[in-house]
Amino acid sequence: MFRPQFLLSALAAFAPLSFAVKRSAGDPCVVIAGKVFVRPADALACMKSFPFNETLRQNVLTNNIARVFDFYTFEDYYLESPPPFQESTANIRAGLAKINTTKYATDYDFNIDLYNFITQLNDGHTRWFPNCYTSFQNLLPAPIVSLEVNGVQGVYIVPDLVDLVSLLGPDYTDLITIDWQRLAGAKVVSVEGQDPYAYVDFIAKTVSGNYLDHGVRVNSVFSSYRLSGSAYSQRFGDFAGPTGAAQNSLTMKLTTVNSTKVESVTIPYIASFLGVNFTDQASFWANNCVATNATNGVDLKQSAGLTSNAFKRKQPMANIIDKSTSSAVGLPSQFEPTLPTVGGDQGVMKSYILPGNKTGVMFIGSFEGDFDGFQNDTQSAIAAFKAAGVTQLLIDLSNNGGGFVCLGQFLHQYLAGTRIGYPGFQSTVRGNELARKIVASDIALGLTDAVTFYTADNYAFLNGTQMPADYNYITPDVPIVINGRADATSQRFHDTCGLSFTVDMPENPPFDLKNVAIVSNGNCASTCAMFSTLMNEREQTKIAVFGGKPFENVEFKGMAGNQVLEWFDIDSEIKTANLKDDPLAPADLLVSGDFRHNWRTAWSFFNEKEPIAYVSELPKYRFPYTLDTYNNPQNLWLFAEKTLFT
Ligand SMILES: *[C@@H]1O[C@H](CO)[C@@H](O)[C@H](O)[C@H]1NC(C)=O
Ligand SMILES: *[C@@H]1O[C@H](CO)[C@@H](O)[C@H](O)[C@H]1NC(C)=O
Ligand SMILES: *[C@@H]1O[C@H](CO)[C@@H](O)[C@H](O)[C@H]1NC(C)=O
Ligand SMILES: *[C@@H]1O[C@H](CO)[C@@H](O)[C@H](O)[C@H]1NC(C)=O
Ligand SMILES: *[C@@H]1O[C@H](CO)[C@@H](O)[C@H](O)[C@H]1NC(C)=O
Ligand SMILES: *[C@@H]1O[C@H](CO)[C@@H](O)[C@H](O)[C@H]1NC(C)=O
Ligand SMILES: *[C@@H]1O[C@H](CO)[C@@H](O)[C@H](O)[C@H]1NC(C)=O
Ligand SMILES: *[C@@H]1O[C@H](CO)[C@@H](O)[C@H](O)[C@H]1NC(C)=O
Repeated sequence: MFRPQFLLSALAAFAPLSFAVKRSAGDPCVVIAGKVFVRPADALACMKSFPFNETLRQNVLTNNIARVFDFYTFEDYYLESPPPFQESTANIRAGLAKINTTKYATDYDFNIDLYNFITQLNDGHTRWFPNCYTSFQNLLPAPIVSLEVNGVQGVYIVPDLVDLVSLLGPDYTDLITIDWQRLAGAKVVSVEGQDPYAYVDFIAKTVSGNYLDHGVRVNSVFSSYRLSGSAYSQRFGDFAGPTGAAQNSLTMKLTTVNSTKVESVTIPYIASFLGVNFTDQASFWANNCVATNATNGVDLKQSAGLTSNAFKRKQPMANIIDKSTSSAVGLPSQFEPTLPTVGGDQGVMKSYILPGNKTGVMFIGSFEGDFDGFQNDTQSAIAAFKAAGVTQLLIDLSNNGGGFVCLGQFLHQYLAGTRIGYPGFQSTVRGNELARKIVASDIALGLTDAVTFYTADNYAFLNGTQMPADYNYITPDVPIVINGRADATSQRFHDTCGLSFTVDMPENPPFDLKNVAIVSNGNCASTCAMFSTLMNEREQTKIAVFGGKPFENVEFKGMAGNQVLEWFDIDSEIKTANLKDDPLAPADLLVSGDFRHNWRTAWSFFNEKEPIAYVSELPKYRFPYTLDTYNNPQNLWLFAEKTLFT
């Protein structure tokens, strides 16, 4: 099923921010208005029709993004990222200065340059999303996978192509100008004149983002199964489903199934619109590009009533934003598990008992959604496993983009028991000048964790005692040196997740931890990365990663930052602390966009001098996908049961 989700349009009341739009028969946005699927060149013509505007560049780059970067925990690590993450090296300030002086013809060119620069930091917690220009996803009717066939790994167009692409419907397939069905399962010989794995590396380097490790990004180039929300889905992958509308077609050399003839095929991309509907250039701008009432933060002291989601706000988040989930294509239904689910099945977790009753499977698609419901589902799945005599637990974390920080710690604690004590990591925030002013001001104002993430009562001392709200853990700061640069950080602290556990926690592990194994494609981000790192570092859990490029490592954790703050969140912290007028405070955005950043560091349990993001931890097992497993979770679990539990 194709499920476009349109963002709320809530603009009318907002600061008119307009271009001198030429209303003419030649309006390039009229051509694509009201359509879900359009030619990328037409989408691009509309997006490129807004001239470059220096006022907007200074608003976004100098007054907003450059100042938010002061809070970014990993800024100085980028000067020289340690191996194997060296590809993610950048001088952030020099990069911003260059974008500040480059001549751009259009507003699109400026924003996409900035989007690419920040995306290529490869930190899914630190992204610039200019909503105006990230409102298309470009879909190629030829997603690819790396498969082992007859003992040899190669790149193939997905064998389930016809079933998968047909789910997009005739509005999509009618626009494909070639005989695409015959490409199902074709072996790819080259892409744009390059070896297919070399082209995959190129996409991993220039398009994917989100994950520090190159090997993990290679897997996000390929198509893969996932849960999108609570529904089975097949991700197109960054080769066949990148954000934007930059490319019109790709040329591949390939051999179709049962043929030995190498032929050259040029395949068209078709762009899918994910933004807010519009009728012409002016309404495209008004509905998609201008700041809404949800773009900038609010003074949470004034809006205690407004936050009916006050509880949610208090829960720290660690997740990535995968634009491809906003219009997820279903996994063709014949590849969904045929076993019945057991335990709770209302949310992001689906649990099964494999035939023979030895192994229970928890497929955890994310740590988002219903905070208490997740805990209930865990408890009821484990109770069902116990009742059936299950002794082995397999956890599938494929394409888990993270979510609530505390649900990762919850799951670790539930599986390891309360006997282990604190189930998380040591953490810090950056001790920049404005952060220190915020904490001081919060204390003076008598604020608490009910409204801010900066007050100390969100956290605990390392002995486990919750800090009092008026405790100043950031002044004096703790000096650290990163890549030769002096930086400042807060004192170290623990999370206080135990305060929000709502189910009875077992004292001892429900399953012998030697009989617990994790499988994934390495696309396990944020809370998922922290959870699997805890299971690796503290419980020595067996971890297997599927897919990737032959003879190249894949880390099992994709992006192991810690809590992320959206622009709305950090701006709300500043406004709530009455510091919006401070010269260091970032300005409100005039455009609709989000500059999110990794706000807290999680320090490795193995080496408490290193952020876990920068500690290389490889899975004990690596397997290629096969025709049986790449899009068939149940087949993969049966393979893993045979292979990992012996
Ligand atoms: C934004 O505006 C919409 C529509 O006017 C309204 O429903 C919503 O509550 C507003 N949100 C905030 C955070 O003010
Ligand atoms: C540039 O943007 C500013 C801020 O919205 C606006 O006031 C100004 O008119 C724009 N300039 C042009 C030439 O459109
Ligand atoms: C936007 O337009 C599409 C295509 O006409 C339509 O299917 C969809 O319902 C519209 N969405 C909204 C929110 O109006
Ligand atoms: C960009 O250039 C302007 C004008 O020279 C300057 O005021 C601003 O500080 C620069 N911003 C950045 C991020 O380099
Ligand atoms: C390929 O050959 C096999 C065996 O003859 C046949 O079953 C299959 O339908 C053929 N596939 C295509 C796409 O021609
Ligand atoms: C597995 O458990 C189910 C439900 O308790 C039972 O019906 C089935 O016979 C069991 N299978 C085996 C192989 O023990
Ligand atoms: C979780 O389970 C408890 C106890 O059965 C129940 O009271 C509560 O409503 C459940 N919460 C959710 C969110 O499912
Ligand atoms: C934990 O450490 C804090 C700060 O050093 C101290 O004030 C508190 O009394 C300690 N709590 C316990 C239970 O030792």
